[in-house]
Amino acid sequence: MSAFLKEYMKKLDPTLEKVIAEPYCGGAGAALILLADGDADMVVLNDADLRVYSAWLAMLEEPERFVAKLSNVRLDIAEWLYHRDLVDGYSGSEYDFEVGFSTFYMNRTTRSGIILNAGPIGGYDQRGKWKLDARFNVQRLTNQVLWLATNRHRIRLSNFDGLSFIDRERRMPAADNTLFFIDPPYVKAGGRLYYDGMSEAKHIALSDLLTTGNIRHWILTYDDAPLIRQLYRSQKCSNISVNYSLQSKRLENEILVEPNYI
Ligand SMILES: C[S@@+](CC[C@H](N)C(=O)[O-])C[C@H]1O[C@@H](n2cnc3c(N)ncnc32)[C@H](O)[C@@H]1O
Repeated sequence: MSAFLKEYMKKLDPTLEKVIAEPYCGGAGAALILLADGDADMVVLNDADLRVYSAWLAMLEEPERFVAKLSNVRLDIAEWLYHRDLVDGYSGSEYDFEVGFSTFYMNRTTRSGIILNAGPIGGYDQRGKWKLDARFNVQRLTNQVLWLATNRHRIRLSNFDGLSFIDRERRMPAADNTLFFIDPPYVKAGGRLYYDGMSEAKHIALSDLLTTGNIRHWILTYDDAPLIRQLYRSQKCSNISVNYSLQSKRLENEILVEPNYI
């Protein structure tokens, strides 16, 4: 997605601050690549899941504490189960460093990086080809966290519902020079993979918000579901293939929706 988004960023006014906003940010891979490569000047991240939000805030606000923990944490199944239980059972209502760290740990050590309902890389017996440490290169992760901290002034973070976030951001002075990259939980599989704060009514409200023309630059990705085809029938829809490795290696169809005036 980042290559595609980079192309899109060229449409923004280069004399003004170029912003990329992710209302359902999760791992925010795409936006941060754009920031690192200079395609965006500012990144605005939002996720309604307090665990995901806590992970980002922990790295941004307490980077030294975070990297210290990174270099001391164990990579074995007992440790994995500890973090899994902390993340699964979390019901707090405010930022929590430990929950943020555990969410990060789960993202790096579960298959596909999914923090909910997914097993450890290498299996519970750790007999798989790849093991828990496959995506946990402490030095590399430390460098990335420190990079985030250095770029703190170029990253805004919030914990709203995606719809309220978009509604707030579209009223900001930089709104017309902001690309909204919107990757909501899927209609079909959302609840299984991520925290899913989207009802059908919210999927419909999101399409209302996007298709009424109040937001100038947006790109949306979804699973290819009949509801989505219906809601965005008058926009530009194209198929993209995404490689999911959660259960088995297979190619799923995802759709990319762009405003019809592009
Ligand atoms: C498909 S994932 C986004 C993945 C992301 N693009 C990435 O690269 O990791 C959807 C994200 O939306 C978040 N989410 C679910 N319901 C939400 C809501 N109502 N408002 C905002 N975020 C929500 C989930 O916590 C999850 O992180």
